[in-house]
Amino acid sequence: MLFSFVFAVAFVHSLAIAIPNELQVRDPCKPLAQGWEQVDDAPAINDALKACGKGGTIVIPADQTYSIRSPIDFSPCKQCDFQIEGTLLSSRDQWNYWYNDVDSIMTFANVHGARVRSITGSGVIDGNAVDYYNSRWDSGLGRGKGFVHITNGSSDIRFENLRMKNVMQRFFLLDGQSVNMSFEGLALGVEGQWGLYPRNEQETFGFEMGDVREVTIKNIDMNFRSRPNHGGTTGVCAAFDVGTHNVTMQDVTCNGAWGGALVMVDTIVPNLKPLSLSNILVSNFTFNGTVATGFQDYISNATISNVIWDGLNLLKGVSAMVNLCYLRSHNWTGWYFYCQPAVNATLVNIWFKNLRGGGDTPDIGVYKNSSIDVHVENWPRL
Ligand SMILES: *[C@@H]1O[C@H](CO)[C@@H](O)[C@H](O)[C@H]1NC(C)=O
Ligand SMILES: *[C@@H]1O[C@H](CO)[C@@H](O)[C@H](O)[C@H]1NC(C)=O
Ligand SMILES: *[C@@H]1O[C@H](CO)[C@@H](O)[C@H](O)[C@H]1NC(C)=O
Ligand SMILES: *[C@@H]1O[C@H](CO)[C@@H](O)[C@H](O)[C@H]1NC(C)=O
Ligand SMILES: *[C@@H]1O[C@H](CO)[C@@H](O)[C@H](O)[C@H]1NC(C)=O
Ligand SMILES: *[C@@H]1O[C@H](CO)[C@@H](O)[C@H](O)[C@H]1NC(C)=O
Ligand SMILES: *[C@@H]1O[C@H](CO)[C@@H](O)[C@H](O)[C@H]1NC(C)=O
Ligand SMILES: *[C@@H]1O[C@H](CO)[C@@H](O)[C@H](O)[C@H]1NC(C)=O
Ligand SMILES: *[C@@H]1O[C@H](CO)[C@@H](O)[C@H](O)[C@H]1NC(C)=O
Repeated sequence: MLFSFVFAVAFVHSLAIAIPNELQVRDPCKPLAQGWEQVDDAPAINDALKACGKGGTIVIPADQTYSIRSPIDFSPCKQCDFQIEGTLLSSRDQWNYWYNDVDSIMTFANVHGARVRSITGSGVIDGNAVDYYNSRWDSGLGRGKGFVHITNGSSDIRFENLRMKNVMQRFFLLDGQSVNMSFEGLALGVEGQWGLYPRNEQETFGFEMGDVREVTIKNIDMNFRSRPNHGGTTGVCAAFDVGTHNVTMQDVTCNGAWGGALVMVDTIVPNLKPLSLSNILVSNFTFNGTVATGFQDYISNATISNVIWDGLNLLKGVSAMVNLCYLRSHNWTGWYFYCQPAVNATLVNIWFKNLRGGGDTPDIGVYKNSSIDVHVENWPRL
């Protein structure tokens, strides 16, 4: 009797020591917002993830703003439910830190089972980067930071019913052999971006992915705006780099972007291998921008198969482009005519179907040493 009593006390005691205090805050965990932009609330969110992440719920309550000055690390999350009803606001006075010192702002590395969502629809993730857009100028090429980075073999990650705005570079960067990710009911907005060539082409991405499988992107509204005095298009809504397999993207609107839903080989740096990509279906895609669909390959001999764009509602822009020497044509101009006959890419079972709206004439290059199996159905002017 006494023994088992002692045992029970010892057990409870060791449990209390082994698990941080936050467990005493019962599930769901509600981290505290301290209410100052200069005071970082990320540590409290990370503590909540540690305390409740294993199968539990973390709530960011409505009408509260959390200042994010260091990364939110989802690695303690195992089948967790992260509910954002308030606002996560990242800092706007430490761009070098965000760019050079950390991997990303919301980091999913080797995370299995995470649901990030707003139940009421009031949740906002604000990258707060308008100052950043205005404070610098560069080519926009090279590695872009993911605000959300899903990597290192993560699986079963869902984002639902959230508004996200003004992230530094990429809303979602997906790579590192991650599988089974879904994004549904999101509004991604950018305002005050640079909007002039060449930086407008590469700075903002809605979704950039490579080396990933099983991705669903559904019912997403992307609205990218540049500074009124520049007025150009900005960024790419969805870019598929090599190693991407089995993606469905449907009911997506992409407004104000330079690129729509494009196969873009070698945007992710360091460049990925092997050079193959397959099974991508983009359907019911509404585009108002510069280039809606197709390929912007950066001179690689990639093998790309089963890519279907079915149902493009084109308000403005070029309906399709196949340019396997894109970087050279836009930077190393003199090399384009050398690249075009030399590149040896293999494109198999590529379809452009059901264009509504017309837009500008498609731009399909001629590649003598590549094998290009492109089909068209109800896609005027191609
Ligand atoms: C453009 O090409 C030059 C070489 O001609 C290179 O030094 C520069 O980095 C390139 N810029 C970009 C943005 O790739
Ligand atoms: C992914 O794993 C690699 C190798 O273990 C590690 O160096 C890297 O920091 C990890 N990435 C993240 C975002 O944790
Ligand atoms: C994909 O992830 C979802 C949760 O986001 C899960 O319900 C589903 O079972 C997973 N699918 C597979 C094939 O593992
Ligand atoms: C893609 O999906 C198909 C059909 O569901 C499956 O057979 C194939 O193994 C998947 N490919 C990858 C690379 O996951
Ligand atoms: C096509 O997508 C838009 C959102 O971009 C949606 O409002 C519309 O209902 C979809 N149409 C069909 C037929 O699913
Ligand atoms: C399409 O984009 C242009 C800017 O390029 C904008 O003025 C126009 O309002 C947009 N159209 C729609 C329907 O959103
Ligand atoms: C195209 O391929 C042929 C046959 O392999 C080769 O002789 C030729 O040099 C290639 N063209 C270029 C521009 O590389
Ligand atoms: C692509 O293939 C061509 C012809 O086979 C070859 O000359 C060229 O070096 C390859 N390019 C790359 C980047 O591997
Ligand atoms: C292109 O590469 C394939 C191998 O991927 C090779 O069989 C073919 O001969 C190459 N074509 C040219 C023209 O070099």
